Amino acid sequence: MNSNHWLSYYQNNRRNRPEPKWNVPSPLDPQQQKTLARSLSHFQLGETGGGTFLIDHACKRVGADETYLEALQFFVAEEGEHARLLERLVLRFGGATVRHHWTHALFRLVRHTLGVQFEIQVLVIAELVGTAYYRLLRARTRDSVLDETCALLLRDEAQHVEFHAQWLGEILSRLLPLEMGAWRTQFQALFTAAATVAWIDHREALIASGSNRREFFRDARQECIRFLHKIQVNANEQIASLVTA
Ligand SMILES: [Fe+2]
Ligand SMILES: [Fe+2]
Repeated sequence: MNSNHWLSYYQNNRRNRPEPKWNVPSPLDPQQQKTLARSLSHFQLGETGGGTFLIDHACKRVGADETYLEALQFFVAEEGEHARLLERLVLRFGGATVRHHWTHALFRLVRHTLGVQFEIQVLVIAELVGTAYYRLLRARTRDSVLDETCALLLRDEAQHVEFHAQWLGEILSRLLPLEMGAWRTQFQALFTAAATVAWIDHREALIASGSNRREFFRDARQECIRFLHKIQVNANEQIASLVTA
């Protein structure tokens, strides 16, 4: 993977970030704002991991690439910026941020279970599900500040997914086809479980926005299919470079 590219991407992405116009009043009715605030507060909690566990474990990995580790720190900082944006949005909708929620506890438990590779996989799954959620909210809700915030989040998340797809593609290129098949199966099982948990937790906000279960799962599944394709392409490129070396 081209770690230098990612380091300069994250460094540059700190600039040119249009701040949403927080003072513009929301045209949404108070009940819808309340529902959105509750749902967004759970995503906000998910973005406030700090990344200490991830960085520590990535550093301990044998042969860890220093530039990749630096890029990873910028990635964690960017997720912290997402937490700030979501907090502003939650407060704007008259809600409050939360410190604990069962979905967050479950997410932390799962991602810390099996080391850095598994943690990145769990983070990606959350990003794929989050992308479908932000995209649907943005498409269905007429609120300019929500629109501006989701646009920023979606722009960043698309790159986060690409960043992790390159790293995972490189790792997975070392697997035998049978092992790769097993990896893809467990990824899809975990993804389906995560999308189901997200639907249970966020269905009220999505339905209030005019969306529905079918649309949410369709969009989330498309994100997952695209990601698995990217991983395969990246793994194949890596294998091709080894063959021709
Ligand atoms: Fe994020
Ligand atoms: Fe992300």
